[in-house]
Amino acid sequence: MCGIVGFTGKQQAAPVLLDSLSRLEYRGYDSAGLAVRNEDRPIELVKATGRLKNLYNMTDGGALLTGCCGIGHTRWATHGEPTQTNAHPHVSGLETGVTAGPVDSDVVGVHNGIIENYEELRDKLLRHGYSFYSSTDTEIVIKLVDYYLKKYKIGPIDAINRMMVRARGSYALALMFKDRPGEIYAARKDSPMIIGVTEDESFLASDVSALLKYTRDVYYIGDHQSARIVPGEVHFYDLNGDEVQAQPTHISWDSEAAEKGGYEHFMIKEIYEQPRAVEDTLKSLIKGGRIDLSAAGLSDELLKDMSGVRIAACGSAWHAGMVGQFLFEELAELPARAELASEFRYRKMLADGKELVIVVSQSGETADSLAALRAAKQKGLKTLAIVNVRGSTIAREADCVLYTLAGPEIAVATTKAYSAQLAALYALAVETARVRGRIGSEDYERYISELLALPEKIREALGEKERMQWLASKFAHAGDVFFIGRGLDYDVCLEGSLKMKEISYIHSEAYAAGELKHGTISLIEKGIPVIGVLTQGALAEKTLSNMAECRARGAYLAAVCGGGTSVAGEDADFALELPETDWHFAPSLAVIPLQLLGYYTSVARGLDVDKPRNLAKSVTVQ
Ligand code: AGP
Repeated sequence: MCGIVGFTGKQQAAPVLLDSLSRLEYRGYDSAGLAVRNEDRPIELVKATGRLKNLYNMTDGGALLTGCCGIGHTRWATHGEPTQTNAHPHVSGLETGVTAGPVDSDVVGVHNGIIENYEELRDKLLRHGYSFYSSTDTEIVIKLVDYYLKKYKIGPIDAINRMMVRARGSYALALMFKDRPGEIYAARKDSPMIIGVTEDESFLASDVSALLKYTRDVYYIGDHQSARIVPGEVHFYDLNGDEVQAQPTHISWDSEAAEKGGYEHFMIKEIYEQPRAVEDTLKSLIKGGRIDLSAAGLSDELLKDMSGVRIAACGSAWHAGMVGQFLFEELAELPARAELASEFRYRKMLADGKELVIVVSQSGETADSLAALRAAKQKGLKTLAIVNVRGSTIAREADCVLYTLAGPEIAVATTKAYSAQLAALYALAVETARVRGRIGSEDYERYISELLALPEKIREALGEKERMQWLASKFAHAGDVFFIGRGLDYDVCLEGSLKMKEISYIHSEAYAAGELKHGTISLIEKGIPVIGVLTQGALAEKTLSNMAECRARGAYLAAVCGGGTSVAGEDADFALELPETDWHFAPSLAVIPLQLLGYYTSVARGLDVDKPRNLAKSVTVQ
């Protein structure tokens, strides 16, 4: 996620802004920038790609930017590549892509969030004589505020309110206006923003960790609220422009806890960010009730003509690919194979030249996945990357790119990025099925409706936290854990088992339930935990029989049920019911309790959940 900061008071703004931005680095970013003004002199901009230290060095620690009022930003690219021109702050004037120096614009601003209807807003502004120097949605929304300022000859708060009525999406905006020296204006919907004040200074930031050094008394600006911030004071307004009263909150967290938004670990924070990650990803692909893959460069013709798909990935990304494999076959009746990238890259890759190779990767830097991509390109195959990091190597080298919008994922064990990958693969499989005439409009619309309902159902599934915490306490000293299922349930077991292994260090296996009797069931003995995932209707009933076989050998049975399958008390020692969803998309719900189980088992064992031993967030070595 992007990070935004602001300051207005008596001391020089730039050093405060840089210090505050440094406390937001954990949020992940690829560029940064500042805008500072000294009384009624022009606003000065400085923007840099890469690490914050580049901006620090460019401004000599802020000393080269004089002025006591300013805003700053660390950018996690969503619209537009990570370049200096696309870095924030952005301006309303005609300055084409100023990256350092004074600007003459009436509005200068920074933004965290995603403007969904940015295309229609851009077209509107183009019709009114505006031009654009960047490929960001932020520049559009800042120019929209400027447009209302001039069209209606109104003040900043009224112009911001008009923008909020017109723009759809999420935003935490901090703006400076040429004719309002010393003042910062803010607007918020969905994206976090807090404002802190002391006797004669005011601060703004994406979260409290950026402010704790300066103040512990903060205001949480509400959705669709705007604010006028002056030294030592903040005034909040509703959409009608009426001032609303707000009470400050005293923050007792330490700064490390604040970075995690009050959660104990980044992993649990990211588990709870999944509804938003899935929603943002789906909303970037589903517009006006239809799936639109044009931004990824995937045409109907490509989807129609391809002879099959190969999904190459590693770890959890491969687990997501396994779900994709199933759905391409099930929905689009298209031959599909999920390949371990570390194997695929060395194989002959017997392809007819018309297969699409899909490389799934959160980081976009995994060496084996990158090698698989290059091998596919060498064979002349069309390649698609599904990645979470804009501008990453895999994203840059693939022919087509579909971005997941999970935001930066800090914990080594992936959760929200995996869920966002599932969402992207669902949309891809459903759209492919439609284009190839395998599903009609009725099913198409039903699937889309089910997809858009997933974030809320994931949120509901997260409600089982306490029960999974209880179950984890029972598994904390287990020697082996088995996850069993069939079809998509087996694919979810793969992810559940990896979560258990990689952060609790307990040996675990995911097993196709029907395969157990071919040898591995010899390992089942009294007390061994066996988790059955049961969301796939008739297939789940068969898994129930396999669970009974384990029960007969003394296993401790836990059942994760959905799709109408229920488990009677005597059939399992623990059972959990998932919210209802179309069975094709059940993995998004079934994985939630398994993530929580792995997380709480690791916590129960007192391990370093976010940085498990021997592991790296991105495996850039082969
Ligand atoms: C998952 O929790 C692990 N961190 C690991 O398996 C990861 O999914 C794998 O290394 C692939 O990483 P990528 O998605 O960045 O390519």
